[in-house]
Amino acid sequence: MRVHPSTGLTGVVSVPGDKSVTHRALLLGAIAEGRTLIRNPGHGEDNRTTARVLREMGVEVTIDAEPGAEWSVMGRGPGALRPPTRSLDCGNSGTTVRLLAGLLAGCGVPATLVGDESLMERPMARVADPLMDLGHDVRATGPRGRLPLVVGSSRPVPEPDEGEEGLPPLRVLLRTASAQVKSAVLLACLQRPGLVEIVEPAPSRDHTERMLRAMGRRVTSSSHYLTPGGTGEPDQAPRVALHPGGALRGRTLDVPGDLSSAAFVLAAGLLRGEDVVVRGVGVNPTRTGFLDAIERMGARVAWSDRSVGEGGEPVATLSVSASRLRAIHIEEGDVPRVIDELPLLAVLCAAADGESSLAGAAELRVKESDRIETTSSLVKALGADIETSAGGWRIRGLGEAKFAAFDLDVSADHRLALSAGVAALAAAGPCVLEGHSILEVSFPEWMTTMRALGARIEEDS
Ligand code: S3P
Repeated sequence: MRVHPSTGLTGVVSVPGDKSVTHRALLLGAIAEGRTLIRNPGHGEDNRTTARVLREMGVEVTIDAEPGAEWSVMGRGPGALRPPTRSLDCGNSGTTVRLLAGLLAGCGVPATLVGDESLMERPMARVADPLMDLGHDVRATGPRGRLPLVVGSSRPVPEPDEGEEGLPPLRVLLRTASAQVKSAVLLACLQRPGLVEIVEPAPSRDHTERMLRAMGRRVTSSSHYLTPGGTGEPDQAPRVALHPGGALRGRTLDVPGDLSSAAFVLAAGLLRGEDVVVRGVGVNPTRTGFLDAIERMGARVAWSDRSVGEGGEPVATLSVSASRLRAIHIEEGDVPRVIDELPLLAVLCAAADGESSLAGAAELRVKESDRIETTSSLVKALGADIETSAGGWRIRGLGEAKFAAFDLDVSADHRLALSAGVAALAAAGPCVLEGHSILEVSFPEWMTTMRALGARIEEDS
């Protein structure tokens, strides 16, 4: 991909449906009763992977190649999943493999889960351990708790059904603030009698909880759950309670535009925009850390057309234009709400006045790539200074100065490729990004979207 310096980006665009929400709609739809219609699904490779593995277990999933087309899942209850005849390949998708482990364990469906080279290197004990503690047979059989994840058919012996009052609540304490792990536990516990309470060290995205409610289950969250930066004290820590109940009901679900993709359009607008408007973006408060961060950096984000879609996810139209940015300090408590946007935020910090810092984000080291190292190579290529640490970085911004023109291999990680694409629009000359097809994982139409705003981007065949 050859990206030319661009200015005056202007226009109104939308972005694909949220990747996290689409995974959940497919997985919950598969074990619900009746049809689930998924409107505005994310259609990147990761979401297609979830659809494919469900099909391999006999679930009727109808997906369409056209961006924006509806997808549907015919749910036949938790008993309808057929044990797969070979290993399920979860590709590049951490959310697919971790949520599936919980879903299969809860349904007692034996399976072996594997993935691509990057996924095979990511930690899986974080999901296997709490599921084992709950009595499920889920083992991370690779070296150092890596894939393959092997799910056995045994399930915890159900307690006699004494009703909600009769059973003591089952409490699960999570060690990592991870929505993937929290969701795996929720999915594994759907068939349990009695109340299940999950305590997290810090609040993580709550899409699973919202969707379970929309599909008929009672799920409550502590009132301060949406406050960013929970204190981490056991009785103050965020908690989610899953109340016992029957099967999920299939229904229509609206998937909001993915804020994690919109960020790659909004950031281009902040660097080189005149008036960049993104319609229908998901603004669930557990996800909006990027918007808070850019406002703290001095950007003005205008919100309009707020509404809540079928399924309970809030959306809004967001507009930005080029802004002078100042440095920002991101602390551990801020991290979960902005985790996927941190590489992109580093690009904005490289363009800002002053020294920015990030701490408490060691999770970045176990994403699709080691995002502390891959982001550092991008920031250096732009000509800014960066020092990395175990859990973050310090970046001395270039202020008004332009980024250097650069060439970079971005094939390691979709969010690196997209961050580099945004940076290249603000560089001093054309930039060549090798291996850019990795952006298919989450945002296949980034190039078309940016061209619609006036950017010049060419693709070598
Ligand atoms: C996700 C949760 C986050 C996020 C990932 C998607 C999800 O991961 O980084 O891109 O859909 O639940 P963790 O749960 O590992 O924090």
